[in-house]
Amino acid sequence: MDGIKLVNVSKFYTVEKNSIKVLNRIDLNIQANKITVILGRSGCGKTTLLRLVAGLEKLDQGEILDDNSKKKAYVFQEDRLMPWLDVKKNITFGIDKNDIDNKRINEIIEMVGLKKFYSAYPKQLSGGMKQRVSIARAFAYDPDFIMMDEPFSALDFFTREQMQKELLKIHNTSRCSILFVTHSIDEALILGDKIIILEKGVIKSQYEIEEENDSRDLLDYKFVELKKKIINDLKIIN
Ligand SMILES: Nc1ncnc2c1ncn2[C@@H]1O[C@H](COP(=O)(O)OP(=O)(O)OP(=O)(O)O)[C@@H](O)[C@H]1O
Ligand SMILES: [Mg+2]
Repeated sequence: MDGIKLVNVSKFYTVEKNSIKVLNRIDLNIQANKITVILGRSGCGKTTLLRLVAGLEKLDQGEILDDNSKKKAYVFQEDRLMPWLDVKKNITFGIDKNDIDNKRINEIIEMVGLKKFYSAYPKQLSGGMKQRVSIARAFAYDPDFIMMDEPFSALDFFTREQMQKELLKIHNTSRCSILFVTHSIDEALILGDKIIILEKGVIKSQYEIEEENDSRDLLDYKFVELKKKIINDLKIIN
């Protein structure tokens, strides 16, 4: 399966008659079977980039090359659960009844740590639990390409670590392509095959990490050095 390529992509929004260039001439290769991580300050255009790739937003310039053969899933920055459906029904929402594999769904519910809550309603869940339902829903769809917008932002340190491990496990067995947005540099270093630093709608720098992502030690010299570089990239605003 091919990846997705952005060529010279720009996006403008008009707010009170002022045109804001949110993404400016982005060239980006989102490789198949890899994890591409986008890092950048609040408001730099990360969600807009994901929405363009998902086809939820129209671009104003350039093109997105996609063979459209992929089964895509999207974990939104805010949870988008149906309040009238319980956890299990939220997770299987949109999947053809004949395609629902109950054993697999139960495994996924267990994986996100919500086994005791499968018949609970969203209003009975905490923010982080709702986030985990959204993640489970994306996995249940068995996608080839998954876009995740700060999916672990509401989780505590240990749950977050656990979810990162589960994500890597799924990725290593299904080899799905992942486009992942985070504010955490450590998370980017743990997960990313490629890390993109976005600043005010422009790609400021990008780094490729060769090392397998299930055996990385962030205290290793090369990761400490890379972290310093990334902090510097994020600190200095052009
Ligand atoms: N529908 C819209 N109409 C007008 N402006 C928008 C719209 N969506 C986003 N923007 C603007 O585009 C810019 C980028 O927004 P975006 O949501 O992509 O940022 P982000 O990098 O995801 O930020 P965060 O880390 O806070 O989620 C912001 O200045 C925002 O105000
Ligand atoms: Mg965002």
